[in-house]
Amino acid sequence: MNATQNHIVMQVRSLGIAFGGLRAVDDVSFDVEKHRITTVIGPNGAGKSTLFNLISGALRPHMGQVLIEGVDMTGLPPERSKAAGLSRSFQITNLFPELTVSENLRLAAQVLEPMSRAFLPLSRSPRARAKTEEMLERFRLGRRRDELAGNLSHGDQRRLEIAVCLASEPKILLLDEPTQGMSHADTADTAQLVRSLTEDVSVLLIEHDIGLVMELSDHVVVMHQGRKLAEGPPKTVRADPAVQAAYFGHA
Ligand SMILES: Nc1ncnc2c1ncn2[C@@H]1O[C@H](COP(=O)(O)OP(=O)(O)OP(=O)(O)O)[C@@H](O)[C@H]1O
Ligand SMILES: [Mg+2]
Repeated sequence: MNATQNHIVMQVRSLGIAFGGLRAVDDVSFDVEKHRITTVIGPNGAGKSTLFNLISGALRPHMGQVLIEGVDMTGLPPERSKAAGLSRSFQITNLFPELTVSENLRLAAQVLEPMSRAFLPLSRSPRARAKTEEMLERFRLGRRRDELAGNLSHGDQRRLEIAVCLASEPKILLLDEPTQGMSHADTADTAQLVRSLTEDVSVLLIEHDIGLVMELSDHVVVMHQGRKLAEGPPKTVRADPAVQAAYFGHA
């Protein structure tokens, strides 16, 4: 990687996949800058979640590449991209509902321990334990630590899910609609939380709430029918007539 690319943590290059005749993601390219929030927007069915599936390795692209810090990670399985520093939350909650809040965090943080300690009890996993405590405090889940994840309110579950993603200390965090179904207050809280995450990670976000997109994003990528329609700073993108017609016109 050359010096001018040092601020770029991930490059998406001409990424594409088709399901039958449908080009769900079609020749999409953009960069993700370090410690910034890059947001992907677009109408329902635009290909946003599929794009995340291609980046995280859940789906193998038919064309294009994903580079993390200059290293080609294209089509590697999710465990491998995770090891390269990619962590992902899902549009639908992906916690272990039968485990407690702290158990969910501790499982995620266990990757911080050397392999030799991977299966030792919590009392002998100092890094995982410290990370669990840090996440409980930072995400204000301390009072819920012994509750089953499945019994948390929707807002707390989504917060826990972000905490679980962060517990493995990734470089890049993919968040697919973290505020979906949240109350107004929870959405505002989550926005603040996501903003604070950029101290540690680079964030790639999918978000429908356009107010939040404008407030949070450093860079916006607009998708429409599988293709990248526009990208740029939030204000520039919102003022783009093609974006207005394809997206805001129907919002
Ligand atoms: N596994 C699959 N097989 C076939 N078609 C799929 C598959 N996954 C997604 N699609 C189709 O690809 C298109 C893009 O879907 P995707 O879920 O990526 O959109 P999205 O932008 O995330 O939408 P939303 O805003 O509703 O979450 C849609 O037409 C969808 O029906
Ligand atoms: Mg989606």
